[in-house]
Amino acid sequence: MKIVNLDGCTTNPGDLSWEGIEKLGEYTVYDRTSPDEIIKRAKGANILLVNKTVITADILDALKPELEYIGLQSTGYNVVDCAHARDLGITVCNIPSYSTKAVAQLVFAYILQITNEVSLHSDAVKNGEWTACPDFCFWKKPLTELEGKVIGIIGFGSIGQRVARLANAFDMKVIAYNPRPKDYKETPVEFVTLDELLSTSDIITCHCPLTPDTENLINGETISKMKDGSIFINTSRGPVVKQQALADALNSGKLLAAGLDVLETEPPKADNPLLSAKNCYITPHIAWAAKETRERLISILEDNLLNYLNGTPKNVVN
Ligand code: NAI
Repeated sequence: MKIVNLDGCTTNPGDLSWEGIEKLGEYTVYDRTSPDEIIKRAKGANILLVNKTVITADILDALKPELEYIGLQSTGYNVVDCAHARDLGITVCNIPSYSTKAVAQLVFAYILQITNEVSLHSDAVKNGEWTACPDFCFWKKPLTELEGKVIGIIGFGSIGQRVARLANAFDMKVIAYNPRPKDYKETPVEFVTLDELLSTSDIITCHCPLTPDTENLINGETISKMKDGSIFINTSRGPVVKQQALADALNSGKLLAAGLDVLETEPPKADNPLLSAKNCYITPHIAWAAKETRERLISILEDNLLNYLNGTPKNVVN
């Protein structure tokens, strides 16, 4: 059995082992693969592993009849034309929930950075401002307490629910929008309409998948419904947000700040309006990247493949 991994270097840049997958067949790992190299490298593979390499309908057609299974090294499955894969009888599996806690942790890293301005004050101290200060303390921007603030969670799946638990620990009020409200009783949460969430949240955080329904969900119109001075966080997928509209809202002061782990194109182009937008904190898609988290990912990737080979596929998304 031929197994090809088209972009293995972010999952395992060398600090983890592929041993479990190597035992299952003839395994070739490429660090990264450009669109014009995909067919050459993947032709003849029975099993394809991908992270962010886009697998279109044409590519799927070109890889039949050998290709029977695609294992995503991610939760999101928007990079594969899943419907066409299903039509061709190709099973596509994702890795649900491997990074739930790590993503929720980054959401709060942003929230705490924005409400406590840690790096601003640390830099000020290093620049001598505390030494020169006549008082025992100073602050350069208003600081905000989280207790009692409303956090609005768009997409109340695994990550959204974990964010709710952390928010409850800060005594925040949690509201959520999900197309189908969940029967969820672990921590207090009120399900509301999207409009209500937009207009009443102090902090809005996106945890929905990228689908035709959620593409550009955050746009000029939805942003105009948000509370003045609110905070926006996105760790889901970049195209959920219309970038220019968010940059405009930050630059005009409509929104206080944003924390973004994902952008429309990754890596971003130098002229991406968010790179220079006011109070916009951006990390290079790292929410999933802790070593413990990637270790878990590889273990589920192996497990998914073993289940498929044993005739009991798990985590099928098509
Ligand atoms: P999940 O599938 O458990 O939850 C997604 C939730 O969004 C579901 O409850 C679903 O019903 C809801 N949803 C679907 N359409 C919606 C809509 N139109 N509006 C609002 N909600 C909608 O997925 P999970 O594990 O919570 O992950 C969420 C997303 O986070 C993933 O799809 C992925 O794109 C992103 N992600 C990002 C990572 C990063 O490193 N930045 C790492 C892992 C996931």
